[in-house]
Amino acid sequence: MADGFLLTEQVLALAQEDAWWAPLMANASALLYQSLPDLNWAGFYLVRDGRLTLGPFQGKAACIHIERGRGVCGTAWRDNRTVRVPDVHAFPGHIACDGASNAEIVIPLRDGAGCVRAVMDLDSPVFGRFSAADQEMLEAFARAIEACVRWDA
Ligand code: SME
Repeated sequence: MADGFLLTEQVLALAQEDAWWAPLMANASALLYQSLPDLNWAGFYLVRDGRLTLGPFQGKAACIHIERGRGVCGTAWRDNRTVRVPDVHAFPGHIACDGASNAEIVIPLRDGAGCVRAVMDLDSPVFGRFSAADQEMLEAFARAIEACVRWDA
C-alpha cells in the first residue's frame, strides 16, 4: 500500500490552487489510481437531484446514476458510513460496472453540516483487496478532501 500520508499531502497541495470539486476529484482519482496497486476503478459519485451521479474517475466507463440504497455506493450514502466489501458477488444488489471488479470500498464525503455530498469508490479485481488499514488510510484521504473541497462553483 502506498504511503497514505503522502497521498493526503498531495491532494491538499493540489487543492491550494483550486479546491472546486471537479478538478480536485479528478486529480484525487488520478492520484489513487496511479498510486495504489490492484485497482481497476477509482472515482467519485456526487449527490445530485436525489440520486448519485457519476463524477470524476479513472477506469472504464461506468453507470451514470445510482439510486439511494442501491449497490455499494447507494448503501454507503444511505447509511452514511464506509462500506468495505471483500467479495462484491456476495453483496446483495451490487452494481457491476466492470466485470473485472471483485472487491470494493466506498467512503462517503460530507459537507460542513454532516450531509453526504459525494462518495469515493474504489474497485479491485483482487478479492479481499481492501484491509482495515487501507480503510483507515482512505478515510483520512477522504477527510482531507472534505476539509478543503468547494462544493459549488
Ligand atoms: N459497484 C458500484 C457501482 C459503481 S462502479 O463500481 C464504478 C456499486 O455497487 O454501487
